[in-house]
Amino acid sequence: MNVGLLTGGGDCPGLNAVIRAVVQRIVNEGGSCVGIVEGWRGLVQGMSRPLNLCDTDGIVARGGTILGASRTNPFKSPDRDVPSVLANVKALGLDVLVVIGGDDTLGVAYRFQKDFGLPIVGIPKTIDNDLAVTDFTFGFDTAVNIVTEAVDRLRTTAESHRRIMVVETMGRHSGWIACFAGIAVAADYILVPEVPIDLPHLVDVLRRRRAAGKNYGVVIVAEGARFPDKGVVTLEAEIDPFGHVRLGGIGALLEQRIEKLTGFETRCVILGHIQRGGPPSAYDRVLATRLGLAAAHLVIRKKFGTLVALSGGQIVDVPLDEGVSATKTLDLSYYDEAAAFFR
Ligand code: F6P
Repeated sequence: MNVGLLTGGGDCPGLNAVIRAVVQRIVNEGGSCVGIVEGWRGLVQGMSRPLNLCDTDGIVARGGTILGASRTNPFKSPDRDVPSVLANVKALGLDVLVVIGGDDTLGVAYRFQKDFGLPIVGIPKTIDNDLAVTDFTFGFDTAVNIVTEAVDRLRTTAESHRRIMVVETMGRHSGWIACFAGIAVAADYILVPEVPIDLPHLVDVLRRRRAAGKNYGVVIVAEGARFPDKGVVTLEAEIDPFGHVRLGGIGALLEQRIEKLTGFETRCVILGHIQRGGPPSAYDRVLATRLGLAAAHLVIRKKFGTLVALSGGQIVDVPLDEGVSATKTLDLSYYDEAAAFFR
């Protein structure tokens, strides 16, 4: 069996761990693997590389993806790109494609399976943890740990200068990273896309804490957080091939508002792509390895049109269409627990 592997969308720590698990399992079963370079772009343009056991040695600890990634969407110019993808799958002699991605990349995989009969096994990934099909995605735990470490550092300088530190996290339209990291660092306030920003309450909490003797503050804000009746803040008007705007800038807006309303010196730090870089946490390596093994198992059993996922601690498989249908916003019970401290 000849298996193609593809990593698409934004990268995240754990992708190499998942690649290692799939390749080692398939090769040990007598199959072969081909790496598709730079996500769907690799199949549009015919870019691939060999993937042998030695290529995957030691990569479990490496961030990013040895295959490269892109946000290429072959259905953006379907007349041109869809036939290229199908021709390249044939030219490479692929029996199945293991697609590792978020909702966009997996959505493309589903269309190729549904409309063109491509045999697909999907594996979900994203630092945002916003895929409804799985309890947690690998990449998320590492991102939360990176934010936690960054805020632990920012706290000391905030304290020295008696400042409010506004830390903007990624997460797109979900507040998972902001909420989990905010709880981990005992932030004074956490702002997530799922709950409109209540500026008077935020200011009130910061003022009361100052009056009680705490001379600095930490506010965590997710990039997708919004003021009531206002849209998300974006870095540029351009949209990507999947129709997404580039989020960012809410932290800087808050910095101005907080400083103006409280008189406390305030600084904003946008953590950006640092959250996606570097080695995966042990948790993400384990989760990625378990998902990779399960995906390889589906490939060996020829159970195509499926996706592996984490459900209640177990790795399960579900139909691919279920996996790409719904976004998972932050479970507000976590936010309620965090908000118990906003006093
Ligand atoms: O989906 C992962 C993510 O890191 C989001 O949190 C963020 O909004 C986006 O990707 C950034 O995308 P890019 O790497 O294309 O700037």
